[in-house]
Amino acid sequence: MFPNMRMRRLRENPTLRRMVEETELELEDLVFPIFIDENINEKMEIQSMPGIYRIPLKNVGEEGKEIESLGIRAVLLFGIPSCKDENASSAYDENGVIQNAIKALKNETDLLVIADLCMCEYTSHGHCGVVKNGKILNDKTLEIYKKIALSYAKSGVDMVAPSGMMDGQVKAIRSILDDQGYEYLPIMAYSAKYSSSLYSPFRDAAESAPKFGDRKTYQMNYSNSREALREMELDVLEGADIIMVKPALFYLDILRLAREEFKLPIAAYNVSGEYSMVKAASLAGYIDEKSVVKELLTSIKRAGADIIITYHAKDYANWLKK
Ligand code: PBG
Ligand code: ZN
Repeated sequence: MFPNMRMRRLRENPTLRRMVEETELELEDLVFPIFIDENINEKMEIQSMPGIYRIPLKNVGEEGKEIESLGIRAVLLFGIPSCKDENASSAYDENGVIQNAIKALKNETDLLVIADLCMCEYTSHGHCGVVKNGKILNDKTLEIYKKIALSYAKSGVDMVAPSGMMDGQVKAIRSILDDQGYEYLPIMAYSAKYSSSLYSPFRDAAESAPKFGDRKTYQMNYSNSREALREMELDVLEGADIIMVKPALFYLDILRLAREEFKLPIAAYNVSGEYSMVKAASLAGYIDEKSVVKELLTSIKRAGADIIITYHAKDYANWLKK
């Protein structure tokens, strides 16, 4: 059929090569996660995530300005509160760490401020929901998620991102936001969030590891892909504006399935363990960080993500500047 088809013809000239490039990675696609710690006065590097810091609340505005100056347009906030209890009451305190961080960032920057919405950083037991007799209670947890959502909305957040994997969480949050006049506040749902070993550096950073058991009764089993489609479908029906797949790199197949199945924007979370593996190999000199990061971020986009949440965002932005 093609007696002399030469695929290499379009690869010869660098300009032409660039013209026929299918996937374009842009800084505007990236979201940088930040950890705000109520208990510290100085930036502290996270031991298992070289280059990533916990930021004291008082410095969050300054940090936001620096992020903005690099050309990054969006941040995802995680809080480390001074008080934890059974029911995560500091998560919906109107004077809580995230509520104050949202206000500071909205006052001092033009960043799009997204807040992760969960209980695990705020509970004494480290689970993402209300615990009773060793079980994580779904519907009791939704009541708390609603309070958190409302407090974030009142602080001026631009988008909320529920990450606890409770059934009905999107619907619950959508209904309270609508009831309270926040009909236009979007929800980015962690829809297909797997129970993954790749979150452990994050749990060090956020001090959110469960004190007993694991998250397997609410996060997804990594063997499953059809189930991810069901999770995403439910979140779409419940009113999610953006659906998410997490982690990203080991789950590019899920991302591709999501892209084929849904019309909504899709986010991918390039998680802490994925970051730390690349960082460690780079620091050891085994790989070239810059080219590996560019390749991995492009692969996440190519698989179908519109938005990429990544700890590499700052490094990537810095490389673009040079
Ligand atoms: C909280 C939450 C976690 C992450 C994002 N939100 C941790 C978890 O589920 O244990 C992980 C992010 C990362 O590893 O970078 N539910
Ligand atoms: Zn959680």
